[in-house]
Amino acid sequence: MYDLEETIRDRRSVRGFHPDRQVPRDVLIDAIKLAQHSPSNCNVQPWEVFIASGAARDRLRNDLVQAVESGMPPSASSPMDTFINEHRKRQIACAAEMYGKMGIDRGDGAGRMRAHLRNFELFDAPHVAIVCMRKEFGVGVALDVGMWVQTFLLALWSRGIGSCAQATLRFYPDIVAKVLSIPDELQILCGISFGYEDPDVPANQARQTRIPIESNVHFVDG
Ligand SMILES: Cc1cc2nc3c(=O)[nH]c(=O)nc-3n(C[C@H](O)[C@H](O)[C@H](O)COP(=O)(O)O)c2cc1C
Repeated sequence: MYDLEETIRDRRSVRGFHPDRQVPRDVLIDAIKLAQHSPSNCNVQPWEVFIASGAARDRLRNDLVQAVESGMPPSASSPMDTFINEHRKRQIACAAEMYGKMGIDRGDGAGRMRAHLRNFELFDAPHVAIVCMRKEFGVGVALDVGMWVQTFLLALWSRGIGSCAQATLRFYPDIVAKVLSIPDELQILCGISFGYEDPDVPANQARQTRIPIESNVHFVDG
């Protein structure tokens, strides 16, 4: 098992998995139990997580891929964030790193579409967690859920399990809710595909950088 600093530094998004290497249930439960220690406002622990494996994972993947391939528009209830200025630049740099490693050129629309579709193929991961909270909650509670997500990603990584958080998995909430019997009072915040990394998948060569702390941490003294 890694130490905490090493785990935080080394963790990265994995976008290609061995589909047939299941994470043993006891290992997964240990990781979930660790993530359960995440802090939350008033200790309300508002995350609701549905983990699909086996036939449920296959159904979810099939239905999502079919929706995307049929041209179904993403749900209006899950609008995409629009980034401008420096955030847009970072978003472009992130995509350039990923597409670059995947061998997809700037003007290659079909290649980008294919890369986008990989999200709905769950990057071939054998498991996917769908992370939800109640619909009436706002950004404050979403922050609590984000804490759980990061702790879960780290708990997985320290056990040799790769993962990718995916906002894209909230694009078709009706499909996901139907396949996993997610109650109507919950909204889907993100998915997390996870499993054992296939190092031969080119997307897994991507390495994202971080901006210096001066860019977004502001010390106010005196
Ligand atoms: C909430 C959240 C949603 C994300 N959604 C996606 C996604 O839909 N597809 C994807 O390929 N990566 C997604 N990512 C992964 C980010 O692109 C990645 O974390 C970021 O580029 C930093 O890279 P790293 O995770 O390798 O350090 C998401 C990450 C987070 C935290």
